[in-house]
Amino acid sequence: MESLASALREATATLRLAGVPSPGVDAELLAAHLMRENVGRVRALALIGATAPEGYADLVAERARRVPLQHITGVAYFRGLELAVGPGVFIPRPETETVAQLAIDAARALDAPRVADLGTGSGAIAGSIAQEVPAAEVFAVELSELARAWAARNLSPLGVTLVAGDYTDALSELNGTFDVVVSNPPYIPTEAVPREPEVAEHDPEMALYGGSADGLRLPLAAARAAARLLREGGYFVMEHAEVQAPALARILTEDRFWSSVRTHPDLSGRDRATSAIRTDVPWNGR
Ligand SMILES: C[S@@+](CC[C@H](N)C(=O)[O-])C[C@H]1O[C@@H](n2cnc3c(N)ncnc32)[C@H](O)[C@@H]1O
Repeated sequence: MESLASALREATATLRLAGVPSPGVDAELLAAHLMRENVGRVRALALIGATAPEGYADLVAERARRVPLQHITGVAYFRGLELAVGPGVFIPRPETETVAQLAIDAARALDAPRVADLGTGSGAIAGSIAQEVPAAEVFAVELSELARAWAARNLSPLGVTLVAGDYTDALSELNGTFDVVVSNPPYIPTEAVPREPEVAEHDPEMALYGGSADGLRLPLAAARAAARLLREGGYFVMEHAEVQAPALARILTEDRFWSSVRTHPDLSGRDRATSAIRTDVPWNGR
């Protein structure tokens, strides 16, 4: 039987050779998943000479083929949530936690806020808001049937209303009644295929591409949907690529539906979110 310590070393070398960005951490996380232990315990067990778990080499080989770690373990961690994920749904990213925080802050300032998450994917943002702002009434909109299956699993215990459909016209019966609208829409320019195989081959296309050369068609559709859904004074926040920040700020500033347009940096200082306040112009179904 191979020792855990030597299996971890070999796995790290294999994953490094395959170009996995954090080979040591992934080697430990795969072992932790199989052993149903946390990473700290795995390290301790390696030190005291434990043996490698059965099936470890298979999981390492899968990861070396650049299958996302979260598809192998079936879990993605986002703020306080442990989300079920797998093929057909976008893996939530750490930078989106900052966007969720902005929506949570806006919702927390109100007594019984009504909140919508447009393009909810696994339900990461909507679920975090429901968990962290218990007074909020949260709706989550998703077009993809596969993504919705994962969202349903993650969101039903949290009391979020999951809506099937296109956010362009979803929830129109509630137009003008939302206090907060948040979105991490698809925003990658059509020709910019991501380099990492985990993203290019495993994140769904519908979650990635913004539908135009600059990637802004779907983000701007999300902004229009937010203008339709929000009450006067309501708060909108959206994630985007750093390079899109100036264009989005300009377009929203010039749009009569928005005021107080602000760009927000993520934890590494990149401008990855834009927020705005709904003005009192009546919605005219433009
Ligand atoms: C970048 S992913 C974000 C998922 C999740 N909010 C997150 O942050 O992890 C964008 C999501 O929007 C969904 N989507 C794309 N176009 C949509 C549309 N027109 N209406 C509703 N959902 C849409 C995709 O299927 C995908 O789940």
